[in-house]
Amino acid sequence: MTYIDNPICVAIDTPDLKRAEKLADSVKNHVGMLKVGMEFFYAHGMPGYKAMAAYGIPLFLDLKLHDIPHTVAAGLSSLMQLEPKPAIIDVHATGGPAMLASAAKAVNGRAKLIAVTILTSLDDNDLSASGFDNSKNTGEHAASLALLAKANNIDGVVCSPHDLVGIRKVCGDDFLTIVPGIRPQGSDTQDQKRIATPRAAMDAGADILVIGRAITGANDPARATQEILDTLKS
Ligand code: C5P
Repeated sequence: MTYIDNPICVAIDTPDLKRAEKLADSVKNHVGMLKVGMEFFYAHGMPGYKAMAAYGIPLFLDLKLHDIPHTVAAGLSSLMQLEPKPAIIDVHATGGPAMLASAAKAVNGRAKLIAVTILTSLDDNDLSASGFDNSKNTGEHAASLALLAKANNIDGVVCSPHDLVGIRKVCGDDFLTIVPGIRPQGSDTQDQKRIATPRAAMDAGADILVIGRAITGANDPARATQEILDTLKS
């Protein structure tokens, strides 16, 4: 199963290799992609990555690189030595135009290169506190960053479900949208602020749904995934 057939990408957010393997094994027939992020990769590095790749599902290597253009390009070149290569890898759009262009050159089509716009844990007040121009709201900042990413050869963005419509409007339908901050009806928001249900995010134009704790924290992750998939059927 690939992310083309199934939009669910499960975030394997744990530093515990055995738990990561158990989670991947339990969801492998129900999801289109696994996400390996910093919590797991910093603990287990390339061998851990290969252990996750062994399940045969495309991987999103979510390390959110953000540094000067040369360092980001060099970091991505090192990551592009991984076999199998990640299907998706990401940088922060706020790294700026030169960093985005260098990143795209370093990856050179070997993976989809995605830019994180505004984290789903941030709202208007947080952006203002971080020095963003407060005459624009979070959605407007996300759309500007998405446009900047597109202009610098980035394949798509990670964005909040709330920012999808605005991003689609300026970047078009072919721009990949990867959407965290997903909470099934009635579940706990935890540290996320700008959330939506899986169905609402798909209806707003998401290509891939990144889902962590709603699946990984369930007693039966496979069943939780299947229940989410059922809500996506029309
Ligand atoms: O548990 P939860 O579903 O909130 O996990 C969301 C996952 O998506 C985490 O791995 C987090 O790092 C990631 N993510 C996010 N917001 C972004 C980018 C990635 O929550 N803007």
